[in-house]
Amino acid sequence: MNKKTIIAAALASFMSFAAHAQVANNPQWLDNAIFYQIYPSSYMDSDGNGIGDLPGIVSKLDYIKSLGITAIWLNPVFESGWFDGGYDVIDFYKIDPRFGTNTDMVKLIDEAHRRGIKVCLDLVAGHTSDKSPWFKDCSTGDRNSRYADYYIWTDSISPKEQQKIVVRHQAANPASSTYGRYVEANAPRGKYYEKNFFECQPALNYGFANPDPVHPWEQPVDAPGPQAVRRELKNIIAFWFDKGIDGFRVDMASSLIKNDKGKKAVSKLWNEMRAWKDKHYPHCVFISEWSNPEQAIPAGFNVDFMMQFGLKGYGSLFFSRDTPWGKRGYKPENEKEYRFCYFDRDGKGSPKEFAENYGHAYNATKSLGYIALPTANHDFQRPNIGTRNTPEQLKVAMTFFLTMPGVPFIYYGDEIGMKYQMDLPNKEGSNNRAGTRTPMQWTKGETAGFSSCTPAQLYLPVDTENGRITVEAQLKDPASLLHYTRRLTALRHQQAALRGNGEWTLLNKDGQNYPLVYQRSNQGETIVVAINPARFKTKAVIPHTETLHKLLETGKTAVKQANTGDELRLDGFSAVVYKVE
Ligand code: NOJ
Repeated sequence: MNKKTIIAAALASFMSFAAHAQVANNPQWLDNAIFYQIYPSSYMDSDGNGIGDLPGIVSKLDYIKSLGITAIWLNPVFESGWFDGGYDVIDFYKIDPRFGTNTDMVKLIDEAHRRGIKVCLDLVAGHTSDKSPWFKDCSTGDRNSRYADYYIWTDSISPKEQQKIVVRHQAANPASSTYGRYVEANAPRGKYYEKNFFECQPALNYGFANPDPVHPWEQPVDAPGPQAVRRELKNIIAFWFDKGIDGFRVDMASSLIKNDKGKKAVSKLWNEMRAWKDKHYPHCVFISEWSNPEQAIPAGFNVDFMMQFGLKGYGSLFFSRDTPWGKRGYKPENEKEYRFCYFDRDGKGSPKEFAENYGHAYNATKSLGYIALPTANHDFQRPNIGTRNTPEQLKVAMTFFLTMPGVPFIYYGDEIGMKYQMDLPNKEGSNNRAGTRTPMQWTKGETAGFSSCTPAQLYLPVDTENGRITVEAQLKDPASLLHYTRRLTALRHQQAALRGNGEWTLLNKDGQNYPLVYQRSNQGETIVVAINPARFKTKAVIPHTETLHKLLETGKTAVKQANTGDELRLDGFSAVVYKVE
């Protein structure tokens, strides 16, 4: 054993989670992928109507490339009723006119590919808009219609479900409430239809895992209707894969089959889809909005998210109780974790809930697929919120996101620290998600360089904080979050240990909260990362190493030899990435 191996072995024995990382049967590019999520209405407006579009995105591809991004995911771009930010699709085969045409999409794909950037779209597999021609046709009750069984209809629902409709309709904004399962439609086809999310989103009929004999409308998954819907789904996927798309993020991926305890039937469905995809489009990927990697990845997804719902732990890192998503996730039994999230200036949080849940899911899935820890997304608050609002703090958070395993997703604007805007009005079904969907801040000025429209015409209001939080200002400032993010992505690309499949091991000793220390390793390379989101100095001791070579830091950090090992010392709001040499 040489010295390096001894160190690696010493570190390994110190850790709670260790095993060999090997991700089977996934496209190679995923290992080194860094995604950028774009909410298309808010990224770049090329025609001055106040709403972003595809040519606008194309005009910013060089910028995206300069961030070290290798793939983009666009929120829904298909023709939509715009009652749920595009998640109420009217026509899956057509780009919404607000964004351009199918030809514009092909151009975007070509231009992105020319720059080595993959393009993934959003597949709303579980429902359509109630304005979809499929739904309209189905509602007529014409049994000869191709769409006769595309949706789930019943003439009788339980008193409990009826009561839920009543309660929903008493809400301030009934149509934007997800409460209850049915919508009263009084259509020739049936009195009620099953919805998937909002009322305007009738659930597609993929069948029921265990049809209840007293509910004759519950069709088995192999009935003709559900089978036709499956074929349609495949057709949509193939249509866009054939145009050059590299993958899909699948909306509410676990919702397709109803009454599916343990998600066995829906897992089988995705298993079959994955086998078909791997055969015909092996370089393409499926990314799930499932938030349970231990189900989603064996079900066939290449990537699943850990985020604001499902697998617990993300909230304990980022949602302080005085912020909108912190209030929501707050549970008395989690008092300590949720009142003071971990990435909080007061340093009163704990990494325990995250480490336990992530560690478990990571170990269970790392040989099959990837977990994504997004900086934010269109459904929850950005890192810049509440008292986590300085570039120093945001750099520390970004260090975490870009040094963890799996596939990082940077939500547009988080690279410059755009702020979650509080108390914005509802926009296209956003409710309080509007604050995270505001226009990208390119330059100073009333429309932040996003559009040539008047401020009143903007998709949502902007606040650049006097031009400070803009791409323009941060490009000029070598100490900006933008430049730091670029250094982080470059480092991730350079170091095998930091790649998606590089092994992750937590180095914190039990009960030691700050700093967060973990090791990444791959192909004989070992990296140690220490993260201190607190405003005060912290330190941690790790087993002796030969040399810790500093690759990147934010704030001030140092390493001192101690009797017990190497002592990592971190000033307030600092983070460091060391290579073990
Ligand atoms: C999850 C999406 O992320 C969200 O934005 C949408 O409202 C629902 N699914 C319904 O499609």
